[in-house]
Amino acid sequence: MARLFEKTRLGTLELRNRLVMAPMCMYSCPEQDGRVKDFHVIHYGARALGGVGLVICEATAVNPEGRISPEDAGLWNDDQIEPYSRVVDAIHAGGAKAGIQLAHAGKKSRGTPHPSAPSPIPFSDDYPAPKEMKARDIDQVVHDFQKAASRAVKAGFDILEIHGAHGYLINSFLSPLTNQRHDEYGKDRMLILDQIFAAIREVIPSTTPIILRISASDWAEDGNTPESLARDLSRGVLERHGISGLHVSSGGVVMAPITPYPGYQVGMAHTMGSQLNTKIIAGGMIDCPDLAESIVHEGRADFVFLGRALLRDPNWPLRAANRLNADIDWPRQYLRGKFSP
Ligand SMILES: Cc1cc2nc3c(=O)[nH]c(=O)nc-3n(C[C@H](O)[C@H](O)[C@H](O)COP(=O)(O)O)c2cc1C
Repeated sequence: MARLFEKTRLGTLELRNRLVMAPMCMYSCPEQDGRVKDFHVIHYGARALGGVGLVICEATAVNPEGRISPEDAGLWNDDQIEPYSRVVDAIHAGGAKAGIQLAHAGKKSRGTPHPSAPSPIPFSDDYPAPKEMKARDIDQVVHDFQKAASRAVKAGFDILEIHGAHGYLINSFLSPLTNQRHDEYGKDRMLILDQIFAAIREVIPSTTPIILRISASDWAEDGNTPESLARDLSRGVLERHGISGLHVSSGGVVMAPITPYPGYQVGMAHTMGSQLNTKIIAGGMIDCPDLAESIVHEGRADFVFLGRALLRDPNWPLRAANRLNADIDWPRQYLRGKFSP
């Protein structure tokens, strides 16, 4: 049996395989109310039916200022819970576990004319200079993550992912390139993460796993590297709060040239995994089932994430199982399509 299709634990959850749908913003809340729609129910339900073990729903803003775009999904008020619970039900009906990425866009927010960040450094010439956050602004964001996490659990999500990647708010605290504060948040760049995890743990069941998405490399001189970030994370912030996994991405902190290729972030993920005692989700431009299988077979990661491959084909996992001769359970209704005639 291909290792990709082994049942595998992520915290307290047992996933039916090692395939994770990466969070992908759909910018599909046209009323700008942050409430997910029928589109989201169909979109996420289809990927669950298509066989991934875990669906992680898109970056979901913890407050309106934290939206990447005005059409983003949100969990900043209770009216947003019920529509998301329909998405969760669809994912469960498709046989997958349901995760959600909680996010704040920080300096890259297009949801507010006055974005905020740890230091007043704009992302690029196309973005306004962000407001430097005061301690009380940080307290408010921590509180907003806490409330959004509590709503996510009420909506039925099995696992929460904190968005600490791609140059958004948390990532801009974690990177030395964008956090140039002289207070406690500058001296300990992990502090905001510590506070967010602690606040969330207060309001969710102890059995609900939390994972963290990170940018392992800023792809820029003096920025984070997999080694430096692993060192910072190994000082206790993951263990103190029982963080079950790291979802390893890269970039987005500063404008930097990247030349991606299939699996280009897997080496970074492996480096971090070898220094930290937590499950690793790796990926980036994965489309070939054999490459996905080799990543877990060789122990470079515990899980493989798929982004755009699942936009092209929601049934990628079912096809991959055929390709890898893995005799997995197909949806009963689709059995006649399991093998080509
Ligand atoms: C349309 C789109 C939206 C995305 N939105 C998010 C997001 O909400 N959160 C996030 O962490 N990454 C986001 N990403 C990045 C993906 O999760 C993933 O890391 C990236 O696409 C690389 O993986 P892939 O080559 O398998 O697509 C997005 C990517 C795409 C294509």
